[in-house]
Amino acid sequence: MFSDVKKVIFPAAGLGTRFLPATKASPKEMLPIVDKPMIQYGVEEALSCDISEFLIITGKHKHSIEDHFDYAFELEDKLKKSGKDKLLEEINRLNHINLAYIRQGYALGLGHAILCAKPFVKDEPVAVILSDDIIPPEETLLLDMIRLYRRLKSPILALERVPKKEVSRYGVISGVKESENVYRINGLVEKPAPEKAPSSLAIIGRYILTPDIFDVLEKAKPGKGGEIQLTDAINELLQKRPVYGFLFTGKRYDAGDKLGYLKATVDFALKNRELSGAFGEYLLETAVKLKNNIHKRV
Ligand code: UTP
Repeated sequence: MFSDVKKVIFPAAGLGTRFLPATKASPKEMLPIVDKPMIQYGVEEALSCDISEFLIITGKHKHSIEDHFDYAFELEDKLKKSGKDKLLEEINRLNHINLAYIRQGYALGLGHAILCAKPFVKDEPVAVILSDDIIPPEETLLLDMIRLYRRLKSPILALERVPKKEVSRYGVISGVKESENVYRINGLVEKPAPEKAPSSLAIIGRYILTPDIFDVLEKAKPGKGGEIQLTDAINELLQKRPVYGFLFTGKRYDAGDKLGYLKATVDFALKNRELSGAFGEYLLETAVKLKNNIHKRV
């Protein structure tokens, strides 16, 4: 329980209904932001925190994720023959990582997806990355949470202050501020109506969990939306032990939502060396057209 955080879970078995029909036959986590699937940004984030054991919870579309982190002999052969060494290196860059897969037979909720990870986690703390919450590589959210875990030895949830009207999209906490950016949580509500929300501190897609979460998840009943909710399980856990929130004030993209996905795509494209010039010019032209109100909606 008191070892360092060396493991990470990527739940990727959700149905991704907000992105249908794109997610009918492939997982949301494989949608690209510029030229990398969302899940790859999450894997790179975990690698930058010295995490060494990776688990992806897959659903019925597991093959595209597995193939993405594996060798692709035909493609490699073609790239080799055409001298595209840089691309060859890029497509195999992450193949060495210690990556395991567990299948969640039915999408019974995030809590259930985490429960599926029990044999992987064993008795160690574990990070959880929801890869549709994209955190740019220059931010250090997960690293800061791991450092906080070393001090507190307790579960830590990433929090963001969101506008009141948006709270119903998130799990929301009530808690007491303990120090700069750190809250001791005393209650959680999943997707509350704005007038019933205990605060505007929303849980975002990074967690450090301890193995005692599994005792609670094993007994969990379906909650909001008929799903086994991780927030319900954490709510029960905090009756027995301290649980903390870490307030993140950096940049995050909710890329599980179409607008957030588009914002992430635009910002990452503007940071991309090959694209930023031409794409920036295109955006400026488009902005001028919009401003002059001659941009017709399609
Ligand atoms: P979301 O709440 O975003 O649900 O899941 P979703 O199914 O992916 O997408 P929408 O809301 O229908 O558009 C949060 C995270 O939990 C995973 C998802 O893959 C996502 O990473 N998840 C959710 C599972 O792994 N299993 C589940 O049963 C539910």
